[in-house]
Amino acid sequence: MSRIAFVKDARNPGSYVPRDRAGVSIEDRGFLFSDSIYEVCEVRDGGLVDEQRHLDRYVASLNALSLASPMPIRSLQLVLRETIRRNHVRNGVLYFQVTRGAARRDHAFPDPPVQATLTVFVTPVNTTVRDARAAAGVEVKTLPDDRWTRRDIKSTSLLPNVLAKQAAREAGAYEAWLVDKAGFITEGSSTNAWIVTDTGTIVTRPLSEDILPGISRSIVLDAAASLQIPVEERVFTVAEAKAAAEAFLSSSSAVLFPVVGIDGVAVGGGEAGPVTLRLRAFSRAISQVSGAQLPSI
Ligand code: PDD
Repeated sequence: MSRIAFVKDARNPGSYVPRDRAGVSIEDRGFLFSDSIYEVCEVRDGGLVDEQRHLDRYVASLNALSLASPMPIRSLQLVLRETIRRNHVRNGVLYFQVTRGAARRDHAFPDPPVQATLTVFVTPVNTTVRDARAAAGVEVKTLPDDRWTRRDIKSTSLLPNVLAKQAAREAGAYEAWLVDKAGFITEGSSTNAWIVTDTGTIVTRPLSEDILPGISRSIVLDAAASLQIPVEERVFTVAEAKAAAEAFLSSSSAVLFPVVGIDGVAVGGGEAGPVTLRLRAFSRAISQVSGAQLPSI
């Protein structure tokens, strides 16, 4: 059971509180406008996976919203570690979010600025279920990508993602793969999308405002480089994905799951493919896990 959250806002200078009683103002702009950004990191063996890459993206998201971090990065690192420690989570996902804070409801930024809100919590994952999914693979359903045009920002404006994931689940699929107006797959509702060609080249959409720069995406690219697996960063259609030798998805919570069916069409004979499984194992092996100790400043 994970029970302790961290909250810092205008009413609370920063403290660990029982998770079921942790709360923010009803006027918080994250709640009213999704005027907020977030990060999700894997927790493995009690440590944070690829922490520096997550912190770099956190800063990029803050900058995109003209927000300042509510605490110095070094202090935030301590809070993230302490939240994991207090909850005794060995394997799970750590979530943290920053909003522009609570103010009288007005779309424009509060002037003068108000104290930003920071919330942190950690949730254990059932690694048996996750690893079974990684072995068996998952089904995806394609749906139109009707999100806004700045999908590169890790903002909490996730309503289209939520609706797409729900539609996928109701259709018996694990994930939705979103398709742009030209017929090319952008990414999943909460994952990046990949295929493997007949010749063993891995293909994923290039970074742009169309997709989130996934941390696990960057790790998979590093793994492919180390394994000398050829990579093409280019767009691909639904038809190409259905006919691919293999397909997979990546995210910090999944790391990498084989995709064995798209809209009911079996991919790679309906089984996890060898390139996918090699990449998954190597991606996990090269991920940096930060321990409880901070390096000296
Ligand atoms: N989702 N694309 C989207 C739209 C995402 O929301 C995510 C992450 C990814 C993968 O990014 P990363 O490898 O950094 O996890 C791609 C997280 C896990 C979530 O919202 O829960």
